[in-house]
Amino acid sequence: MSKFLITGGAGFIGSNYLHYVVDKYPEDEFICLDALTYAGNYNNIKDLEDRKNYRFVHLNLCDKEKVDELFQKENFDIVVNFAAESHVDNSIKNPNLFAETNILGTMNLLNACLKMKEVHPITRYHQVSTDEVYGDLPLDRPDLLFTEETPLHTSSPYSSSKAGADLMVMAYHRTFGLPVTISRCSNNYGPYQFPEKLIPVVISKALKNEPIPVYGKGENVRDWIHVHDHNIGVDLIVRNGKNGEVYNLGGHSERNNITIVKTILNQMGKSEDLITYVTDRPGHDLRYAIDSTKVERELGWKLSYTFEEGIKETINWYLNNQEWIDNILSGDYKNAYKD
Ligand SMILES: NC(=O)c1ccc[n+]([C@@H]2O[C@H](COP(=O)([O-])OP(=O)(O)OC[C@H]3O[C@@H](n4cnc5c(N)ncnc54)[C@H](O)[C@@H]3O)[C@@H](O)[C@H]2O)c1
Repeated sequence: MSKFLITGGAGFIGSNYLHYVVDKYPEDEFICLDALTYAGNYNNIKDLEDRKNYRFVHLNLCDKEKVDELFQKENFDIVVNFAAESHVDNSIKNPNLFAETNILGTMNLLNACLKMKEVHPITRYHQVSTDEVYGDLPLDRPDLLFTEETPLHTSSPYSSSKAGADLMVMAYHRTFGLPVTISRCSNNYGPYQFPEKLIPVVISKALKNEPIPVYGKGENVRDWIHVHDHNIGVDLIVRNGKNGEVYNLGGHSERNNITIVKTILNQMGKSEDLITYVTDRPGHDLRYAIDSTKVERELGWKLSYTFEEGIKETINWYLNNQEWIDNILSGDYKNAYKD
């Protein structure tokens, strides 16, 4: 039996992870820490309240003293850090917030783990990172992929803050002997994704027949992965990964943005006339593509979804959960949690 701290569990990927692991491992205990920022939605995890092996703690990672207190009180065995400011556009408007949460917040967790070393040492700290730390690849070199050996070469304040956190995690392993792993995953899609990211934006705007903004000419390529496949990978790495190692996770599904938008509109029976091209994002990465051979070979990870199956299921989820989107758009979701 292990006691887990899961940070950022009210967000998109963290909430899907909790839904996966809380039922899969009834012998383990899961404590979800989340500050419920604008991107944290308590409705995503409200249904877990009745599970005996789950609890929620409303806390900001940047509150160092409270984080330390929580560690002293709970004696965690395993920490999985999903919490982050995650939207590239916001990082261009407010880079400092990204450094505070993503780098300093991560350091608060690492320091809290260190302070517990003599009392109740953790057996694993896992950092959920992103392929964006590798920068981007050219559009005309489909042969190139990011491997775990690819140098970090970030473009946005978001990816730079994630890379800074990764470097700190590795430094705490090398210098202080913390048992750490890092996963770097490509672009996720699936249920509970905040409607600021491409796929839920397209679906929510198409539902209302509103114009759909597409950066530049929509040529930027991302490697899309269903959030469940990401979380299967995180679970394998947390339990079986080797200390001090980085593992890439990718969807083997490279698509450019305009293809994604048109696929969704076609499946929803909506007109492509809704597409509106807007000025490109500054520093916009061209192409991400991941080589996940290491985690496949060493830990037996494999994809369970094709992109076609995953996107169809995801569109249906948003169509069947329009109340979930409306609740966010109206701001009502902020009242879902009462301290
Ligand atoms: N979305 C993707 O495609 C993707 C891909 C690869 C990696 N990642 C990484 O996965 C993780 C989760 O991403 P997501 O898309 O679910 O993000 P999200 O924005 O949907 O969720 C982030 C969660 O973290 C919480 N949070 C933010 N700041 C906090 C703080 N200071 N203290 C405590 N909680 C805080 C928010 O309330 C929210 O619940 C992030 O670390 C992100 O960098 C995301």
